[in-house]
Amino acid sequence: MTTPQASQAAVLCGLGAVLPPRVVRNDELCAGLDTTDEWIRSRTGIRERRIAAAEVSTADLAVAAAARALESTGSTDVDAVVLATTTPDHLMPATAPSVAALLGLTGTAAFDVAAVCTGFVYALATAAGLITTRTARTVLVVGADRMSQLPAADDRTTRPLFADGAGAVVLRSGTATEPGALGPMVLGSDGAHRDLLVVPHGGHMQMQGPDLFRHAVDRMSAVTRQAVQLARWRLADVDRIVPHQANARITAAVGRHLAIDADRRVQNIEYVGNTGAASIPLALAQASADGTLQRGHRVCLTAFGAGLTWGATTLTWPDLKPAAHPAHDTPMERT
Ligand code: UT7
Repeated sequence: MTTPQASQAAVLCGLGAVLPPRVVRNDELCAGLDTTDEWIRSRTGIRERRIAAAEVSTADLAVAAAARALESTGSTDVDAVVLATTTPDHLMPATAPSVAALLGLTGTAAFDVAAVCTGFVYALATAAGLITTRTARTVLVVGADRMSQLPAADDRTTRPLFADGAGAVVLRSGTATEPGALGPMVLGSDGAHRDLLVVPHGGHMQMQGPDLFRHAVDRMSAVTRQAVQLARWRLADVDRIVPHQANARITAAVGRHLAIDADRRVQNIEYVGNTGAASIPLALAQASADGTLQRGHRVCLTAFGAGLTWGATTLTWPDLKPAAHPAHDTPMERT
């Protein structure tokens, strides 16, 4: 009798993230903007955010996060680099080849994925596909964004929300039954609503906040349910939900819809704002650093963004060394 082989899967084996050192508190942001610390905190949950210095590029942020993720695995053996970003350094080429080169990975497959705040989940799905088709054994997946450059300086609707950062994970080939194995992926889009959050060519970000809010809650709730169901878990089994950090009220509403209480929701928006594709890996690194994420936890990653796009997946948290806190000993010292 032969033992059936467990199916192949992408397994998370490394994690790292960085925040630029410059902290911008609400009070500082309010100077010259028609808003208040009280409004921003009560409507979004944000108290402060990190803003990258002008000369720090998306590639710089990505490289710093990726270096931490690779260091956590003890190896730089990577077959592909997938970078999720909405703020590439150039219209062309993609930013991922620069990231690979700066990491000393010249010759490695490298490309960008554009799905705005869902970008990291789309990139995970892409990387998992590279692994399960045996195109790559190990993939570096990075989410890096300088979202703070997209709003107009005088736009009180968007400027308080968006900020900068980067996070990365390393995925390796393994089996679906291992801790760290990514579960089934659920991805979706609806371009009919593209105008709810858009940056026109040569222009600034335009957002229809309340409509986007409703879609974010509905889509993240639905896609979380689907991913959990496909993993053959129940919502009650989820130890930690790691949602894209768009607004603390969106996360709370998703929690209410799914009966996932605050203790099981990872949240760091207070200190980082909305960092686009970096949001989920930044939250993972922070939660790993402070012990919120523990080995054996059943984790669901869920995202929503402009496009519209949405996506979710699951994993059992592996036996990883706790990540370095993204705000500590940051290599991004150029302020
Ligand atoms: O990551 C991609 C996904 N992003 C999102 O999903 C963002 C979703 N949307 C949101 O997070 C929220 O809609 C916002 C935070 C953008 C806005 O919060 P809101 O509770 O939906 O406020 P609102 O747009 O309905 O505005 C309420 C009031 C309005 O005044 P009136 O008409 O009631 O007099 C706004 O003009 O608040 C006013 N307002 C502000 N006041 C002070 C809007 N922005 C500000 C501000 N400061 N920054």
